[in-house]
Amino acid sequence: MTDFNKRIFVAGHRGMVGSAIVRQLTDKGYTNILMRTHAELDLTDQAQVRRFFAEEKPQEVYVAAAKVGGIHANNTYPAEFIYSNLMVEANVVHESWRTGVARLLFLGSSCIYPRLAAQPMSEDALLTGKLEPTNEPYAIAKIAGIKLCESYNRQYGCDFRSVMPTNLYGPGDNYHPENSHVMPAMLRRFHDAKVSEAESVVIWGTGSPKREFLYVDDMAAACVHVMDLPRERYAEHTTVTTSHLNVGTGEDLSILELAHLVAEVVGYQGKIRCDTSKPDGTPRKLLDVSRIHQLGWRAQVTLREGIQRAYEDFCSEQLVAT
Ligand SMILES: NC(=O)c1ccc[n+]([C@@H]2O[C@H](COP(=O)([O-])OP(=O)(O)OC[C@H]3O[C@@H](n4cnc5c(N)ncnc54)[C@H](OP(=O)(O)O)[C@@H]3O)[C@@H](O)[C@H]2O)c1
Repeated sequence: MTDFNKRIFVAGHRGMVGSAIVRQLTDKGYTNILMRTHAELDLTDQAQVRRFFAEEKPQEVYVAAAKVGGIHANNTYPAEFIYSNLMVEANVVHESWRTGVARLLFLGSSCIYPRLAAQPMSEDALLTGKLEPTNEPYAIAKIAGIKLCESYNRQYGCDFRSVMPTNLYGPGDNYHPENSHVMPAMLRRFHDAKVSEAESVVIWGTGSPKREFLYVDDMAAACVHVMDLPRERYAEHTTVTTSHLNVGTGEDLSILELAHLVAEVVGYQGKIRCDTSKPDGTPRKLLDVSRIHQLGWRAQVTLREGIQRAYEDFCSEQLVAT
C-alpha cells in the first residue's frame, strides 16, 4: 500500500523540474514533501547536507538540484559547472546512504552521451566516445552522478536510480537572453519580435539540426513513475553498470520547424531567416526511449500544447516583471 505520508526530499524544488516534481507529488496525494531553498541549504556544503539528512531523515530523495545552463553559460563558467554539480551529487548521495534513504532518483541529462553517438541514442551509448567539448565539464559531472548511484548500489545495496531527460521546457523555465536553452530563448525572441513588430527573426545556422523537446510536467510524471517502480521491475530494464533510463518523447523536429511552430503559437507574423554563416551544432540529438516505454511511461503533452502552456507562463512572468 502506498504511504502518502512518507518523507520525500525534493532537492531543487524551486527549479523548473523540481517544482514540477512537487506539483506531481502533491497531485498524487503525497503530503510530507521536504523542501529547502538554496539559501537555506547549500547542497555543495557537506556539513549542512549532513545535518539536514540527520535531522530530517528523508525516506525518498529526488536530486533535481543542479547548476544548469545553455552553451554560453557552460562555456563561460566551466569550473562552476563541474564543481557545483559534483559536490551536490556526492553530498546528497553519500548522506542518503549514511541515513538509510530507501530510494533516490538522480537527474542527469542527454549531454552525457558522446557527440557522435548513433541516433536515437540508447542508454548503452554511455562512455563509448568523446563528449561535446562545450559542455564536457557538466556532462562529466552528470556521468559521475550516475556512477555514484551505481557504486552505492553495488557496494552498499542501495536503491539509487537515474533518469536522463532530453531538452525540457515549460513553466519555471529560464528566459534569460544569453543563458537560456533553445526553446525559452525562441519564445522570448519571437515574443519580443511580435511586440516590436520586427520584420524578421534570425535563427542561427541552417535550421536543419533536429532536436527533441519534452514538457516538464511529463518529465515530472516520468520521475515519479520511475521512483515508484518495484525494484525488480526497474532491474528488468537496467543493469548494475547501465542503470540509467532515458526520458524523452522519442520524436524530434528541425530547429526551423520549431521556429515556425513557436512563431505560430506566439502570434508572430514576420519572416524567419536563417543566418547560415553561424555554426549548426550536432545534426541530430534524439533519445531512444524504448526502455522507459517498456516500463510503462510515455509522454502525454503534444509539442504544440506544451509550447502554448510555456508561452502562457512566459507572458505571466513578463507581467510580474513589469
Ligand atoms: N532544463 C533542461 O532542459 C534539462 C534538460 C536535461 C536535464 N535537466 C536536468 O534536470 C535537473 C533540474 O534542472 P532544471 O532545469 O530544473 O534547473 P533549474 O531550474 O536551474 O533548477 C535547479 C535548482 O537547483 C537549485 N540549486 C542549484 N545549486 C544548488 C545548491 N548548491 N544548493 C541548493 N540548491 C541548488 C537551484 O537553486 P538556485 O537557482 O537558487 O541556485 C534551482 O532551484 C538538472 O539536474 C538538469 O541537469 C534539465
